[in-house]
Order: sequence, then structure tokens, then C-alpha cells
Amino acid sequence: MAFDSLYEYIDTLESIGKLHRVKTEVDTNLEIAEIMRRMMYSGNSPAILFENVKGYDIPVLGNAFGTMDLLKTALNLSDFREIGKRITDLTKLKIPSNLFDKLKMLPRLSELGEYAPKYVESGAVTEIIEKEKANLYSLPILKSFPDDAGKFITFGLTITKHPETGIRNIGVYRIQIVNEKKAIMHWQTHKRGAQHYEIMKEYCKPIETAIVIGTDPSTIFSGIAPVPEGMDKFFFSGIVRKKGVKLVKCKTVDLEIPANSEIVLEGYVDPNEMRIEGPFGDHTGFYTPPDPYPTFNLTCMMRRKNPIYLTTVVGKPVLEDAYIGKVIEQSFLPLIQMFQPEVTDFSMPASGWFQGLAIISIKKRYPGQAKKVMLGLWGMGQLSLTKIFVVVDHDINVHDINEVIWAITTKSDPKRDILIIDNTPTDTLDPASPILNLGSKMGIDATTKTREEGFMRDIQKPVQVDNDTKILVDKKWIHYGFHN
Ligand SMILES: Cc1cc2nc3c(=O)[nH]c(=O)nc-3n(C[C@H](O)[C@H](O)[C@H](O)COP(=O)(O)O)c2cc1C
Repeated sequence: MAFDSLYEYIDTLESIGKLHRVKTEVDTNLEIAEIMRRMMYSGNSPAILFENVKGYDIPVLGNAFGTMDLLKTALNLSDFREIGKRITDLTKLKIPSNLFDKLKMLPRLSELGEYAPKYVESGAVTEIIEKEKANLYSLPILKSFPDDAGKFITFGLTITKHPETGIRNIGVYRIQIVNEKKAIMHWQTHKRGAQHYEIMKEYCKPIETAIVIGTDPSTIFSGIAPVPEGMDKFFFSGIVRKKGVKLVKCKTVDLEIPANSEIVLEGYVDPNEMRIEGPFGDHTGFYTPPDPYPTFNLTCMMRRKNPIYLTTVVGKPVLEDAYIGKVIEQSFLPLIQMFQPEVTDFSMPASGWFQGLAIISIKKRYPGQAKKVMLGLWGMGQLSLTKIFVVVDHDINVHDINEVIWAITTKSDPKRDILIIDNTPTDTLDPASPILNLGSKMGIDATTKTREEGFMRDIQKPVQVDNDTKILVDKKWIHYGFHN
């Protein structure tokens, strides 16, 4: 079932025993974040609803997507590759050459229409609309770590429109609260929100912005997903849920937001109002140092009568964002394969905080192919920020780090197989980058080498048991007296 709201998702979690209600009083200052982290580090956290939040009448929902099972429920999918497949299928629509083909295409076209957003007049989020009275301090926003610069909205979906094409983006960017009406927008320079802002900055104009806190799970996922350039993220959400998202118009800016959202902050981000953002305890496990970012000015707040405030905490991996990263890894494999068809699998180990390290397996056909794949991926969207790529043969399981280490140490010669490229874009959060947003990349070609690639020795035969011995030992196994 595609959920239409966070409320519906919570109801389902409750019915399947995956929601824990905390009824004792808890503090937004450090306490809630520590509870959420401890539960995440335990490896199997339910979603947690903090019902009694000191000083606020709005409950806080955390760890809502903190296991692969929760994410399967949230997105109603058992195999996340289905998302990428639905997108690549769009590119395979055949141009009809006769009436019969045209008729055959009609159901497919109407299915596509189903994915598109639907516009409605009102929804749960329009129950309360406040303009002058709108106040950021009315929300139970968390401070996560002791040296954080203050309170940060961590799971807000920032909605902007490309000023020239009108294509809408949704991005999860953290937002630091300054006072009742002002906050600092941490959209990193490589992200689409920042790109829209930069275009408006050239015209010396602020950019209209809406921040949605809590909505249906597919739209939340869209905010994190690096969807192909040019695709409206509400349409992407419709593809994920196989049903268009219902949108309402904002009241003070020319943007649309999901009608069933919990809370929406409308306003504009002003290039003439820069502030120092941070430090913030980040998902690298370090405090990201202070840096200038532009100010968000609140013009209106819309919300349900009884909204739920959705939040997440980041920190040293593995926390909730790592599981969401796994969904991205799996759902985007078909898209990677569209451009690099030799790729058989792809993994971003959680401890490498998404952009630190990625492992790719390929079905190699020609010399130099591993390097071709690395270079191709370094040119693709947010994969361009990946610091280290390891390319292995297709018979290596990219999700088993021991197999990957075995491949690196037996198939690569550092001088021949390591590629280092300097002065490339790096993740804003990379604590090791020599300059903010600029540093080097490393590619390790751990595929089997050929003579053309300079391997002049005989390729050694991999050890493997012969079939007769295998069958013999299988048959006699219970007689050896082992207990497994
Ligand atoms: C919990 C969480 C917090 C994030 N915080 C930020 C942030 O503060 N700034 C940022 O630029 N990206 C942040 N991201 C990553 C973006 O959401 C992600 O790159 C997404 O694809 C948005 O990029 P886009 O707007 O270019 O599509 C965060 C991701 C997660 C899961």
C-alpha cells in the first residue's frame, strides 16, 4: 500500500509492532538524540514516537526509517531495484508506428499519468495557517550533540523550483535555527537547491523556498535520492509509490507542497543575508566546522491541528541515514547500468558515509575497462563526489568486504592499478579534503589483469575443490561428528 501521509505510515508501524511510544518526559536538548542514537547503534531500532516533549505539545518521531525492514514497509517494496527499473523502463517506450501499436501503448501512458502529481485545494496541512504568528520556536527541534551551534531541523524537505526550467527539487538539507523567523540553509554547493539559489543570486533576488517536515515516506525518500537531472522530484515520488502525490499551493510563495504534510515552513532564502552555520555533529562522525550559508526567512507556517515533528540524527556511522543510503545504492543500480552496462553490482559500505567509498563489480570484456567505468561514474551526478572507487570482477560479492579485500590484494599492483586524480570536487563534509569541496580521488582496479594491461606472467589458477571430493564429503558429513 502506498502511504498518503506520515500518519498512515505510523498507524501501520503500530499495527505490526514496529512503533515504540515513549511516554515519559524527554528533552529536545541532547536527550532525544542520545536515545535515538543508542537505539540505532543497537542495530534493530523500531520507530520511536516521543509523546511527552518538554515544553512542546507536538510529539517527535525518530528512527522512522532505521532498518531495511522499516524502509521496505515505508516504500512498499521488497526489492529496491524496482525503483530504478521503473525509471529505466520509461526510456524504453517504443515509438508507435501504427494504430494497433498506439492502442497497445494506452495503458502504459495512463499508468505514467497516474504517477504525476495531482493538484487539490486543501489538505491536512492547511488545517492551521499562520503568517505573522508563525514561529520557529514553536517546533520541538533538536540539539543533537553538545558542541552543535544550536538546534537544527534535520529531516526537512527543502522545495525549490529551477528558476529557468521550473522543474521542482526536493532536498534534505539541515537548517540551523537563528530566531523565531530566521534559520540558516545548509544546501551544499553541489546540490540542486544550491544551484537554484545561485541562479537567483545572479539576478540579485532571493529564492522562494518551502520546507516540509513530515509527509508520505516516498516523498521523504525523494528528498534524499540523487534522481536524474531534469526529473521533477514529485514525479519521482509518484514513480516510487506508483501513485501521484496530492499537492496544494503554498500561501506566500509560488510553490506546491504535499497536501498531507505535517508541517510546512514557507519563506525565501536571501543571498544578501549570509550567516555562519555550524559546527554540527555530522554523519562523518566529526563536527563539520562553521562556514557561511544563506538565511531562510519564514513568511508562513501551515500545519495539521495535531502534527508530528519528524526528525533524524546523524553521527559516526552506522545510523539511520546509512540504511536510507542502502536503498539509494540498490534503487539506482539499474540507472548506473543504463550508462555503464558492464556494471553487475554496486555497494557503498555504510561506514564510508556514502561518498567515501564505493565498490563496483563489472563483467570485463576489454583492457582498461575498469578505469573507463570509474571515470564514467565520476562524471555522474552525486557519484562525482565519491572519494574512492574499487572495481572488481563480476564474481566478487561487492557486499562482502572480505571478498573485496581479497580481490584488491590479489589482483592489483599499486603502481599499475591505482589511479589518482587531483583537484576534483569532493563532498563538502569530507574531513580529509585539503581544501573545502576540492581534493583528490583514488580508483583501485582490482579486476583480473590481461597481457595487454601489462601482466606478463601466467594468470594463476584459483584453488577450488574437485567435484568428487565435494560429493564424498557432503555425503559423509554427518558421520564426522561436527555439530553444524
Ligand atoms: C539525514 C540527512 C541529512 C542531510 N543533510 C544535508 C545537508 O545538510 N546539506 C546537503 O547539501 N545535503 C544533505 N543531505 C544529502 C542530500 O539530501 C542529498 O544529497 C540529496 O540527494 C539532495 O540533493 P539534490 O537536492 O541535489 O537532489 C542529507 C541527507 C540525509 C539523509
